[in-house]
Amino acid sequence: MFNRNYSNRLFGRTRGRSKKKINLENYHKKVDKFKFKNFNEKSEYILDIGTGYGETSIFLAKQFPDKVVISCEKYIDGNIILLKNIQKNNINNIQLHNGNVYDVLERANKKHFNLVWIFFPDPWPKNRHAKRRLITSDFLIKLHKTLKKNSEIHIATDSKIYLRFILNSIYNCKEYFLWLNQSEMNLHIKDYHDIETKYYKKAINSQRKSSLFILRKL
Ligand SMILES: C[S@@+](CC[C@H](N)C(=O)[O-])C[C@H]1O[C@@H](n2cnc3c(N)ncnc32)[C@H](O)[C@@H]1O
Repeated sequence: MFNRNYSNRLFGRTRGRSKKKINLENYHKKVDKFKFKNFNEKSEYILDIGTGYGETSIFLAKQFPDKVVISCEKYIDGNIILLKNIQKNNINNIQLHNGNVYDVLERANKKHFNLVWIFFPDPWPKNRHAKRRLITSDFLIKLHKTLKKNSEIHIATDSKIYLRFILNSIYNCKEYFLWLNQSEMNLHIKDYHDIETKYYKKAINSQRKSSLFILRKL
């Protein structure tokens, strides 16, 4: 069980800026069809955290058809797009958690995950918001407990401030993870994964370099 302290509360928007009305009853009915309920002993899982418009979940579901991708996101406008793309692509191995990743981690009673992706987590660049950042050494250690042997965590960021913060978090839990691409940090995300998310494109348009950390469970 994880304590609900400041760092594991949810911050930020659940709706987009557009004034477009959403029928929430319909939305929740659709979410229910693909909802993550509980872990199944027979399934192998990938955890995709903060999926925005769901590009990473669709990508992972196609790349690993024998695994179940748990897509965690509270942003309703993004989940609507994800649900549309699940149907459009006839995908049957995504389970959506419309909320905080900590809810999923609380239900993990053993080592469930083969892979965890965290693409462009909110950087909260202002000092006074730093406590809101998802990636800390405590969080990585919590993930470690739910990871199978040799499984990986992939973290992408385009924020220089968050990059330093993540480096520090990795350093503080160096007995738990091997930083696989430590000597290749200048490589582009596209050198590893052929995917473009909304925030990846934003980084390119603003000429910000994106970095990908690949950690392997020790
Ligand atoms: C900057 S966006 C990145 C979205 C997407 N991964 C991309 O690359 O375009 C970060 C997302 O993480 C979600 N998020 C933040 N904290 C979360 C948490 N504790 N659990 C689940 N999602 C979270 C936010 O709602 C937001 O949509």
